[in-house]
Amino acid sequence: MDVFGVVVTAVWAMLPAYVPNNAAVLAGGGRPIDGGRTMGDSRLLGDGKTWRGTLVGTLAGLALAILLSMLAPAASDLVGYALPTFPLRAGLGLAFGAMLGDIGASFLKRRSGRERGAAFPGLDQLDFVVGALACAFVLAPSWFGETFTVPVLVAILLLTPLLHVLTNGIAYALGLKNEPW
Ligand code: CTP
Ligand code: MG
Repeated sequence: MDVFGVVVTAVWAMLPAYVPNNAAVLAGGGRPIDGGRTMGDSRLLGDGKTWRGTLVGTLAGLALAILLSMLAPAASDLVGYALPTFPLRAGLGLAFGAMLGDIGASFLKRRSGRERGAAFPGLDQLDFVVGALACAFVLAPSWFGETFTVPVLVAILLLTPLLHVLTNGIAYALGLKNEPW
């Protein structure tokens, strides 16, 4: 597969992990997951991690995985590469894993004294990738092995921070997000 094929496959395979955090921004609010609990002087997770945001984000990623699976044959013809479909377990792993990675990052941010919304360069851009890949590996190991070849993984790690900065910048410019990260 050439570079174009690797990049297209990487973005396609990760779309169900890219959407949950953005859907959570739109749907967020309501009861925080940590229920206001603290650890030391700081909140366990903070008001930015809610049940509703996590549920809606996961369902949005899963719905996209189902849609992409239906579109895969036509999209593959269009680009000339066999794009992956998403078994339910893979879609769920990518979507829920992305949310879990983001929640884990908030836990680390609070432990390091960062307030809700504070930036944590590096972690902000890759937390959901690590979570999504880890959960997809656990829930759908053989699909993971077929889809995430080494070149595709490298493309994901290089491209995701760029896409993340871009989409969050757009969400900030549109007034959907309070900070551009
Ligand atoms: N959100 C949510 N539930 C999640 C993730 C996000 O409700 N599991 C919503 C919240 O309204 C949150 C917004 O999406 O404020 C933006 O998400 P994020 O940037 O991850 O949260 P922050 O508010 O910046 O908080 P943190 O510092 O903990 O990342
Ligand atoms: Mg934030």
